[in-house]
Amino acid sequence: MSPTSFTLHDGTSIPWLAWGNATGTTKERALDDGKIALDAGIRHIDTAQNYQTEVQTGQSIQKAGLEKSAVYVTSKCMSLKSTVTHSWAPVPLEDVRASIQGSLDKLGFVPDLYLIHNPFVAPRGEGNLKKLWKIFEELKDEGKLKSIGVSNFRPQDIEAILDGARYKPVVNQIEFHPYTLAHLEPLLELQAKHGILIESYGGLTPILRHPTGGPLKQVLERIALRLTHKYGEGIDQAAVLLLWLKAQRAVAVTASGNPERIGKLAKVYQSEWELDPEEVEEISRVGKTIHYRHYRIHMEEDFPIPDLPQQ
Ligand SMILES: NC(=O)c1ccc[n+]([C@@H]2O[C@H](COP(=O)([O-])OP(=O)(O)OC[C@H]3O[C@@H](n4cnc5c(N)ncnc54)[C@H](OP(=O)(O)O)[C@@H]3O)[C@@H](O)[C@H]2O)c1
Repeated sequence: MSPTSFTLHDGTSIPWLAWGNATGTTKERALDDGKIALDAGIRHIDTAQNYQTEVQTGQSIQKAGLEKSAVYVTSKCMSLKSTVTHSWAPVPLEDVRASIQGSLDKLGFVPDLYLIHNPFVAPRGEGNLKKLWKIFEELKDEGKLKSIGVSNFRPQDIEAILDGARYKPVVNQIEFHPYTLAHLEPLLELQAKHGILIESYGGLTPILRHPTGGPLKQVLERIALRLTHKYGEGIDQAAVLLLWLKAQRAVAVTASGNPERIGKLAKVYQSEWELDPEEVEEISRVGKTIHYRHYRIHMEEDFPIPDLPQQ
């Protein structure tokens, strides 16, 4: 039977697909769409302080009539973008505990996984990222956090917190799909070495955001058709990309504000559908022939991109 969760290196389980409430209309409709996702069978919600959806995330679990223990919840520590300078405003280290307590209060429980949203949550300055991680470690020891991890960390950011760490991050949530594969290879190697799982956001970028679909367009179409014949159900290219993520042992943090597509995501999550190993390899190989990223943020700063075309 195809597993619905992965085991993190701290021994806990994480459902391999999450519904996020930061995409499109899901932010404004986090309560109602969250209930639709839970009713459909999704069991992992991805929220964050700066999505301002933590309250609605907790409420959606109640509205769906589920115990908290039935639903895995990820949240993230805030880093606000200045509306004037458009740069990230860090959280002063002395305010981190209060900031995280704010998350717990809004959610109404301790989230299963709590992340540093990006390396700029820590104030600039030598050693501050490490100090921020140390606070996460202390909160975990005190039972105020459970699993702890990071997001949008480059190799140097991960190395900075691993230096002297008592707990390694369990995940790094990053834009991850076949078109980021060539760039991310050094990061993925580092993560594999330390057992840090990939959480993918933007995983549907090749079909949704790349201007032409790129070299995978026909490959994904062909595989979707084969799976549709094999399993006798309409399996689309989005499903193929999500199954590729699963084959990489990456948690797929995806989203939809459309009830029909939410149902499709839930179906992929619960299904036994699998790609052939040759299909997994082909998607990776073809994906690596270009470099295309949608969320442009800092991941390409001091982390050189490969000399590859975008198309
Ligand atoms: N850590 C970070 O910095 C970070 C950054 C970005 C995102 N995230 C998290 O990741 C979540 C997902 O991010 P994302 O939007 O980039 O994920 P994505 O999976 O690449 O894209 C989600 C989009 O896919 C569409 N979709 C869903 N099923 C589909 C299907 N079968 N066919 C075609 N389109 C389909 C949805 O549109 P419809 O609504 O129209 O169905 C939705 O807008 C966010 O909500 C957030 O929780 C985290």
